[in-house]
Amino acid sequence: MSDKAIIEVNGERIELPIEIGTEGEKAIDIKKLRVLTGGLITLDPGFKNTGSCKSKITFLDGEKGILRYRGYALEDLAENSTFLEVAYLIIFGELPTKIEFDKFIKTIKSYTMINEEMKDIIDGFPKSAHPMGILSSLTSALTAFNPQSVNIEDEEEMYQAICKTLAKIPVLAAWAHKKNLGEPLNYANNQVGYIENILEMMFKIPTEPYKPNPIVVNALDQLLILHEDHEQNCSTSTVRLVGSSHAGMFASISAGVSALWGPLHGGANQAVIEMLEDIAKDGGDVEKYINKAKDKNDSFRLMGFGHRVYKNFDPRARIIKKSADEVLADLGIEDPILEIAKKLEKVALQDEYFVKRKLYPNVDFYSGIIYRALGIPTEMFTVMFAIGRLPGWIAQWREMRLNNEPIGRPRQLYVGEKLRKFVPINKR
Ligand code: ACO
Repeated sequence: MSDKAIIEVNGERIELPIEIGTEGEKAIDIKKLRVLTGGLITLDPGFKNTGSCKSKITFLDGEKGILRYRGYALEDLAENSTFLEVAYLIIFGELPTKIEFDKFIKTIKSYTMINEEMKDIIDGFPKSAHPMGILSSLTSALTAFNPQSVNIEDEEEMYQAICKTLAKIPVLAAWAHKKNLGEPLNYANNQVGYIENILEMMFKIPTEPYKPNPIVVNALDQLLILHEDHEQNCSTSTVRLVGSSHAGMFASISAGVSALWGPLHGGANQAVIEMLEDIAKDGGDVEKYINKAKDKNDSFRLMGFGHRVYKNFDPRARIIKKSADEVLADLGIEDPILEIAKKLEKVALQDEYFVKRKLYPNVDFYSGIIYRALGIPTEMFTVMFAIGRLPGWIAQWREMRLNNEPIGRPRQLYVGEKLRKFVPINKR
């Protein structure tokens, strides 16, 4: 098999190398294309067919529905590991030993305090502000309180910065929620686990003791594992791109939070529940909404369906669907929205439009349902996703910097006006 691609431009043959990944994936290396062809670039809006980097973190096969972190199957990790252990694996490349893991947890706990002046910033937001907007701003504001930029060559410095990020962002996420509720902000509780602490900071009120339901803790832990990384998705590519200008980790992650917020990306989990609620309010006519989604003159899309890379099934959706059924049964929840979700799923999976385009329920279709069952308010769904994706963003940022990747700067095909002469305003 040839390890070169040959393209012909204006009768001239140009050879480009083909790179092969560890799982046999192939990529044409086009770095020299422009030079060799006297200015030809590739055009690929949405980067549907463009590899932006080489990465050792996550392997994904969209046709076969495979997702692996550092070589471990997602199903294996979701069944047997915990969010923080998987975070360590994703960021540092190997599962931690007991000593390494104890140190990791202890160091994260040592950074859970937030500068009190951050509360002044939160005070400035209206109560109605979306928690994703608050989280993005607060993450960026952390730069002001942690001014030293990290020396990525210094392992210990990087380690401390990583633990700091994992410690502080869940506190800010919980504070964004408390701001919406108008309730006092909770400090972290280092006596409990990472997931328990997130729930406690979000839901504890000063007048009552708080003990999270272990079913909720376990379900959330698993849910966050499923979200930890997903190779070069929109928010992760954003983090890498922003970081490629050597912007710091907090600034890059803040940009990632904003990218995740969009309804075509992480914001879909909120959009799914809102869509299901709208269908319920409208009398539960699922067919009507399927038809709207198929109508090319209607901008409506079935939220939680379709994926850029999964064209068979989303392995995260498979795990989460099973977990959603178990959690709803364990918690004894009967949610009318769930009935609509099931009907929608059944109809869409049989409808030719969806089958032909390989549009299957994605992770967000079920995660909204499960978050709702766990008592997480709808506006916080995407914030929970951001907490889950944090290890992935950190790992990808670190890898990009350690690989010494050049600044990200795509090219374009200009299709605007040709040169024209300025016309003074009184002559236009
Ligand atoms: N409902 C109806 N039609 C759809 C949907 C949908 N949810 N998704 C894709 N299609 C159709 C498109 O109209 C297009 O049809 P056409 O070929 O007749 O023009 C075809 O399927 C291909 O769609 P694209 O938009 O080209 O696919 P792309 O890979 O660019 O988009 C995306 C993927 C953004 C996820 C899309 O499927 C979508 O908008 N889904 C709904 C939002 C969503 O659930 N996002 C969460 C993704 S998972 C995550 O981010 C964690």
